[in-house]
Amino acid sequence: MKSPKLRLFSGMKPTGRIHIGNYFGALKQFVDLQDTHDTFIFIANLHALTTLPTKDQLLEDTNNLILDYLGAGLDPEKVTLFKQSDVPAHASMTWVFNNLVTVPYLMRAHAYKDAEAKGKELNAGTFDYPVLMASDILLYDTDVVPVGKDQKQHVEYARDIAEKFNHQYGEQFKLPKELILEDTGIIPGTDGQKMSKSYGNTIPLFATDEEITKAVMSIVTDSRERNEVKNPDELVLYQIHKYFNDSVELRNWYAEGLGYGDAKKQLIKDIITFVTPMRERREHFANNPKLVQDILIQGAYKANDIAMKKVFDVYEAVGLTS
Ligand code: AMP
Ligand code: TRP
Repeated sequence: MKSPKLRLFSGMKPTGRIHIGNYFGALKQFVDLQDTHDTFIFIANLHALTTLPTKDQLLEDTNNLILDYLGAGLDPEKVTLFKQSDVPAHASMTWVFNNLVTVPYLMRAHAYKDAEAKGKELNAGTFDYPVLMASDILLYDTDVVPVGKDQKQHVEYARDIAEKFNHQYGEQFKLPKELILEDTGIIPGTDGQKMSKSYGNTIPLFATDEEITKAVMSIVTDSRERNEVKNPDELVLYQIHKYFNDSVELRNWYAEGLGYGDAKKQLIKDIITFVTPMRERREHFANNPKLVQDILIQGAYKANDIAMKKVFDVYEAVGLTS
């Protein structure tokens, strides 16, 4: 019987250490919503393949991401956790959808346009990225997809593809909605730009105290004297700090001219306090690889059950099986 809760589906690519932007922009929402939603969280390792990682790198990043999920607080008793590559239906569905989307439509995707603008050579996997992502979402009759703001267009693509399929072959897919926390739009990195694995401006979530200290010390400060900036929101330092400590006291300290050095010291303390319980939880799972493997196997069973049935229905609807 289908649960009366709304179904939530999301995930991240295993492409390097996750940072506090990933956590506050996406992962935290997965954790916060796991009690109220029928939650499926996966590791998008087929998507990671588009960046052509080495075999060892991909395996290592995949292993780390599942530990990050568990460390951040996803509870395997409540959430279906699985690897995309353990569910062949994702690739099968992508092939069906590929025939419903046109090349100009895919050329309008932000990710494609960015790569194009930078003159990067693009592989077909990257070009098709939004279609694979639509399959991920649509296979599970997903209601909501919590993601960071930069993924909004991808969820719109999933909705478009669902509508197109339903129109052409009859109702098979629910129309999913993105879930974006407006006030946690984009978390800035240490240089004030969007925090991103590819800009080298991150504060990793599961870092050592030394790494956290180094990253915080490198956060840009304003060229103005500290006491000339009255509004804390103008400071990159505060824009990051408020995620770890949203107290009025902290805001007032900043407003009253708290020095950059002291503010950084306080931020380091606040980050370490915040991540310590997560680190401990992550450590527990890292020391029990068999337990982690079992979680992924259970997840894959459950995901395959649902996804294979959907592929079967779709194959029937389009005339691939009778
Ligand atoms: P990525 O590492 O780019 O695959 O991102 C994984 C998830 O984290 C996506 O839902 C992104 O939207 C989100 N995300 C990545 N960077 C940031 C950021 N700086 N601020 C907010 N959300 C982010
Ligand atoms: N594209 C997402 C990102 O970069 C990862 C992803 C792949 C995803 N498939 C998904 C997220 C399905 C939500 C739902 O973060």
